[in-house]
Amino acid sequence: MTTFPDTFLWGTATAAYQIEGAATEDGRGPSIWDTFCHTPGLVANGDTGDVACDHYHRLEEDLDLLAGLGVGAYRFSISWPRVQPGGSGPVNERGLDFYHRLVDGLLARGIAPVATLYHWDLPQELEDAGGWPHRDTASRFAEYALLMGEALGDRVATWTTLNEPWCSAYLGYASGVHAPARTEPAAALAAVHHLNLGHGLAVRALRSVVDPTAGMSVTLNLHHVRGVSERDADAVRRTDALANRAFLGPMLEGAYPRDLIDDTAAVTDWSFVRDGDEAAACAPLDVLGVNYYNPVLVRQWDGVSPRETADGHADGTASPWIGCQDVEFVRQPGPYTEMGWNIDETGLTELLLRLRHDHPAVPLMITENGAAFADVPDADGGVRDERRVDYLRRHLSAVAEAMAAGADVRGYFVWSLMDNFEWAHGYAKRFGIVRVDRETMRRTWKDSAHWYRDVVATGKLPEA
Ligand code: FCB
Repeated sequence: MTTFPDTFLWGTATAAYQIEGAATEDGRGPSIWDTFCHTPGLVANGDTGDVACDHYHRLEEDLDLLAGLGVGAYRFSISWPRVQPGGSGPVNERGLDFYHRLVDGLLARGIAPVATLYHWDLPQELEDAGGWPHRDTASRFAEYALLMGEALGDRVATWTTLNEPWCSAYLGYASGVHAPARTEPAAALAAVHHLNLGHGLAVRALRSVVDPTAGMSVTLNLHHVRGVSERDADAVRRTDALANRAFLGPMLEGAYPRDLIDDTAAVTDWSFVRDGDEAAACAPLDVLGVNYYNPVLVRQWDGVSPRETADGHADGTASPWIGCQDVEFVRQPGPYTEMGWNIDETGLTELLLRLRHDHPAVPLMITENGAAFADVPDADGGVRDERRVDYLRRHLSAVAEAMAAGADVRGYFVWSLMDNFEWAHGYAKRFGIVRVDRETMRRTWKDSAHWYRDVVATGKLPEA
């Protein structure tokens, strides 16, 4: 039986826009996701995060859910437009009050708060001023980080600056399948840089005001890239540069990889990177957050046959893969989750060991892992979601395997605590271990929640 160390941190994860609702209450301003959702045709079924899981009004109930699961930590995100509606200026105290209650409520239940500052909900005013491709956004982000550090820095255990800047930059500004739905490759690379810069500035801002024992982190959706054959080594290298090293380089090493600059030379000269920026993006981290769902398989495109684009992200009119025109994303063998993502936990072990090899000094945390399935509830609202249990068990085994081989993994957060707003897919994709009835908002534990509670309680993975 697989056993995790006593110090291993078990948690669940959510994000503000996906669960809170209360989109116009208590002075909250609009974010790019409000705008995106209210633009016809962009989100499946016309869904929006206006109400989401109504978490804003059901905070106590949801805190009790966490307590019932017995988790040691909870990863949530702070809605920037709720606490600083236009993305600059003073704090909106009514919005901030919600996070005071959340953090205090977690601590009262013995649960460590893991706060993400940016899970994609940029204040619309900042997008109107240019968004992440605009340098000033990095400074605005650092100011916001400072405000949150001052307000919550005595109680938050771990701070995460950004969630998946890959998605913010490439899905938001290149393929346009996420907010703000722009399809401008050069702007997307400028966004990459200002996200990196904003991260570094935010870590420094936080460190200047928060409790010195608080941890600093960022969460990346690193892509574990494999080639179909050895002939595809260059396709792997290119994909890895754009997906992974574009962030790991500046954030952990203080430099962009040379090959990334060369691969994208036809799109931009990277002149938005000013002297000192790369050093500013690099700040010592206590932990690197890793989100993992599935690996990626690539092949050098022959330029003739129809090009496969099975990268797991919805097809937009444009590609998120800037400078990778000759790379094909090959459909991988199943089984698949409801997202169409293949289930392959070996990629997680390999990814963790690669990080151990490339960045041995940085401890790791799985900040998201989980699966969407078309759950069918029982009469009592419960769900026999054995496929989700199987997915979680496989991936936790994969984590244990990487740890046995030397990876320094400190914790694991299931995505997600509850069914929620899955971005452009709306509410159709259910990732929760707790079911949310869309009519009544009633929360009901799925079998996976019961299973996870036992894993958390024992620190052991039961056999299949
Ligand atoms: C990640 C996001 C998270 C959730 C999962 C399924 O990319 O960080 O908000 O949507 O995917």
